Amino acid sequence: MREGYDGTGPGAITPDGCAVELYTRLPVGDEPDVIAAAVPAGAHILELGSGVGRVTHALLERGFTVTAVDESTEMLAHVRGARTICGPIEDLDLGERFDVVMLASFLVHNGDVEVSRGMLRACARHVAESGCVLIQREGGDYHANVPRERVDPSGFTVRIASSEPVGDGVHSVRAEYVFPDAAWTQTFLARPLTKEQFEQALAEAGLEVDAYLTPDGMWVRAVPVA
Ligand SMILES: C[S@@+](CC[C@H](N)C(=O)[O-])C[C@H]1O[C@@H](n2cnc3c(N)ncnc32)[C@H](O)[C@@H]1O
Repeated sequence: MREGYDGTGPGAITPDGCAVELYTRLPVGDEPDVIAAAVPAGAHILELGSGVGRVTHALLERGFTVTAVDESTEMLAHVRGARTICGPIEDLDLGERFDVVMLASFLVHNGDVEVSRGMLRACARHVAESGCVLIQREGGDYHANVPRERVDPSGFTVRIASSEPVGDGVHSVRAEYVFPDAAWTQTFLARPLTKEQFEQALAEAGLEVDAYLTPDGMWVRAVPVA
């Protein structure tokens, strides 16, 4: 388990506190639509932190090729139809370049600034010169609008129960997922980044914003600095 990260509930838990069975149950949202609108059809996508393939599988159905990376073998065991690579994103060095590198699920906000920087450097190391990096960042009220919850139409509740500052600009966040027959929690460290701080972090990795793809600014397309 990574320090400051934890998870409870049935089944395997990843080093960042995610429950594998939970992710097999979570439906895919609008992520594939956002991604498909932002990248060339049929692109080869390097998906960093793919989990069980919740988004991967929808991308494959749309005709993309995906290489899925995760540090959890238990997560990757559920991925079908994509090449899988197990290991920490921040250390990834495949010696290959991809049309698209994707860092979703707010991973860029990792509580350890060196891990976050390492992830962005891994994005830059693997993106083709003419390719792009898709990043999903937190919404502006992620840590302010707490507690909050959403009842999914399929019958489970997601709750961000708390977000407490723990020093050095880092928050400890507790998320709860309640299904009729099971419940999971995840505790993780997140570093909120203003737009300026986010763009500065990109610049340090040799990347720059090409477009904010959604009105809430959460999905970003970045490109290598020429
Ligand atoms: C919140 S889950 C999201 C999974 C998937 N992106 C989705 O949306 O369904 C985060 C995933 O990223 C993986 N992960 C987190 N930090 C990682 C790191 N530093 N290196 C490799 N995998 C990581 C976890 O193991 C987990 O499977």
